Amino acid sequence: MALKLRRLSNALGAEICDIDLAKPMSESTFGEIHNAFLQYGILLFRNQDISREQHIDFSRRFGELDDHASLPRDRHPDYPELLLVTNRPNPDGTPSESRYTGRSWHTDFSYTTQPALGSLLRCWELPEVGGDTLFANMTMAYDTLSEGMKKLIADLHGIHLSGTRKINAADAGEARRNEVMKLNPPIAQPVVRVHPETGRKAIYLGEKVKRFDGMTEEESMPLIDYLNRHATRPEFVYRHQWRKNDLLIWDNRCTLHQALGDFDETQLRHMERTTVKGTPSGHIVTA
Ligand code: OGA
Ligand code: MN
Repeated sequence: MALKLRRLSNALGAEICDIDLAKPMSESTFGEIHNAFLQYGILLFRNQDISREQHIDFSRRFGELDDHASLPRDRHPDYPELLLVTNRPNPDGTPSESRYTGRSWHTDFSYTTQPALGSLLRCWELPEVGGDTLFANMTMAYDTLSEGMKKLIADLHGIHLSGTRKINAADAGEARRNEVMKLNPPIAQPVVRVHPETGRKAIYLGEKVKRFDGMTEEESMPLIDYLNRHATRPEFVYRHQWRKNDLLIWDNRCTLHQALGDFDETQLRHMERTTVKGTPSGHIVTA
């Protein structure tokens, strides 16, 4: 079957139209979807009124799923394969720990030695307006650097921290952040990562990186800032406006993403994510 595709932006992304993920899917159709995933970096499936089991089953076709042991507090209580990204208060009325998830440019689980291959985020509830997510194409970002810059960064490693984000640290998320930091020590990852399936090079940085391995923060930050700014230029970005029952998968090996928080926080935004495990990358920083 030939998939019906609609590109989402010049930089990345495609919508797969006319697919019902609640129905059985042949290997050959999945093969086409997988090829499109590698080609476009993110895929959107709209109107997927599927169960949690169906979300998990479809995700598994991309590879083994993470049980989110690195973020124990954000797991769905009944499904360790599902990570909550929600501002729905906890049953005891306390604010959700995951309400600020993803609020800076990042790629999932880069702060582990098995960073995520892909993530499949499903929208259950969304505010009246906003709650958008940005995605940026890191292959394009790498390809558009000068040869001099490519040489300069070829052997650098960035140190990825689990517990950084842009919004005010003096909030209820502090305890969680410290716990997550304890579970996840800093990890050095190559700044230029070769995609294990396409063989293409991509910038692998984001705002969880504050220095290069073997260098100080002061020495590193100007170049990290430059690379992040370059990599997230509007022409490399797609901005996703969610609809209820959207399922979006992104390739964490060659894209960055960021939740914008551009919405009224008194309104519900409830998302659930599966995470497909990737190939090992990076090493624990001892010093
Ligand atoms: C994530 C994430 C962004 C969002 O689920 O990994 O970063 O917009 N979410 O919820
Ligand atoms: Mn994320």
